Amino acid sequence: MKLVVDQDGCGGHGRCVAVAPDLFDLDDDGVSSPITEEIGTDQQAAAEEAIANCPQSAIRIV
Ligand code: F3S
Repeated sequence: MKLVVDQDGCGGHGRCVAVAPDLFDLDDDGVSSPITEEIGTDQQAAAEEAIANCPQSAIRIV
């Protein structure tokens, strides 16, 4: 599974980092990126929680 953040869609709300700090990091502009793009099944629940909490719907798993 690959974790993807739409850089143009991210509005810097930071909820992804709040709910899954091991999966996301914010740059100096507050835009989120996955810390590691490839995630395992043990990280899927945290990723899905971040997806559910992103008000911009900028996160997805592919
Ligand atoms: Fe951006 Fe959504 Fe996270 S808007 S900072 S990807 S909660």
